[in-house]
Amino acid sequence: MEFFRSILITGGAGFIGSNFVRYIFGRRPECRITVLDALTYAGNLENLAGILDDPRVKFIKGSICDAEAVRAAFEGCDAVFNFAAETHVDRSIQEAGSFIQTDVYGTYTLLREAQARGVERFVQISTDEVYGSSAGESFVVRSPLEPGNPYSASKCGGDLMCRAFHNTYGTPVVVTRSSNNFGPWQHVEKFIPLFVTNTLEGKDLPLYGDGMHRRDWLYVEDHCSALELVALEGRTGEVYNIASGESRPNLEVAGIILDSLGAPRSRIVFIEDRKGHDRVYAMDASKLEALGWKPRHDFAESLERTVAWYRDNRGWWERVKSGAFRDYYERHYREKLKKGTIHGS
Ligand code: NAD
Ligand code: TYD
Repeated sequence: MEFFRSILITGGAGFIGSNFVRYIFGRRPECRITVLDALTYAGNLENLAGILDDPRVKFIKGSICDAEAVRAAFEGCDAVFNFAAETHVDRSIQEAGSFIQTDVYGTYTLLREAQARGVERFVQISTDEVYGSSAGESFVVRSPLEPGNPYSASKCGGDLMCRAFHNTYGTPVVVTRSSNNFGPWQHVEKFIPLFVTNTLEGKDLPLYGDGMHRRDWLYVEDHCSALELVALEGRTGEVYNIASGESRPNLEVAGIILDSLGAPRSRIVFIEDRKGHDRVYAMDASKLEALGWKPRHDFAESLERTVAWYRDNRGWWERVKSGAFRDYYERHYREKLKKGTIHGS
């Protein structure tokens, strides 16, 4: 099937969005790309370096909550991929208002304008976190939504608004729910980049609780290929889970990172657990696999490549870490690290 001539990518200056911009830019030379991004603390134009100057790519700074900005961004676009969101669970525990605003109201605004414009496809990028913590089962797309924190609750709101628009107005929506992504250009406050860069800086690694919480780890490029496929082949009104099957406890991932950089386990400090911390995320992705998708990147190799990317792109993350992030880190971790227990002691 032919790809769209022109697409809108919201949140395209963030981690997965920028990887998706690069992915489509490289694979679909006929496609024009508009990026709409509010450039919050998580958005970074450096993530799009080398791409933004191309005449095929247009960048608009603006919020998905702002109907006028959205309308301007939709100009000429046949499809939209909505990555724009507030995404960090820890921040949502501290303050949930901006999450509700962007992830629910922003998604609504985007849906309304997409419907008015008559787009061919609206791809809503969602998360496995909407199902809540698994007690051993792999969630399927019909599993109940049982979000465990304000971030995942706000993502549920966005997903359900998509469902409502499809049902009410026939908006051609597909919703995807992916597991935890990793790869280049991920913000340093997320688990893998934080642990890699702290190791590189000679700092401690703050591991929540007993470190036995499990996540399914998906290399970001495998997420991109799934989104491209779902946009083309997915049925409107349907939900698709995207998972790698590479489930690991956090303690194991921290160990791999330390080993690959030649640092000792004693750099791990067990700190007070995250409030309401979901123990396990697990999904069944067979509905997507039936469309012909499978993850192509091996976990160990991709993690190694990701660690190398952060080692080789020190300037990128040092600039992020030296800004407002420093205050966030002090506020969130300082006391907890003082009271923490060093691994092996
Ligand atoms: P991110 O935080 O790195 O990027 C989010 C981007 O959205 C940033 O560029 C930010 O500036 C932008 N943004 C925030 N509010 C906005 C608004 N009101 N209007 C326009 N732009 C706004 O997030 P990410 O990790 O790249 O996640 C992208 C999407 O994928 C999110 O919807 C997230 O829920 C979903 N997701 C992420 C993961 C993961 O592991 N990172 C897993 C599953 C699903
Ligand atoms: P995170 O990257 O915040 O993603 P999510 O909470 O959306 O899964 O965290 C991934 C896992 O790593 C999660 O179980 C929480 C844990 N974690 C820590 O142990 N320490 C940290 O400093 C962070 C940021 C996360």
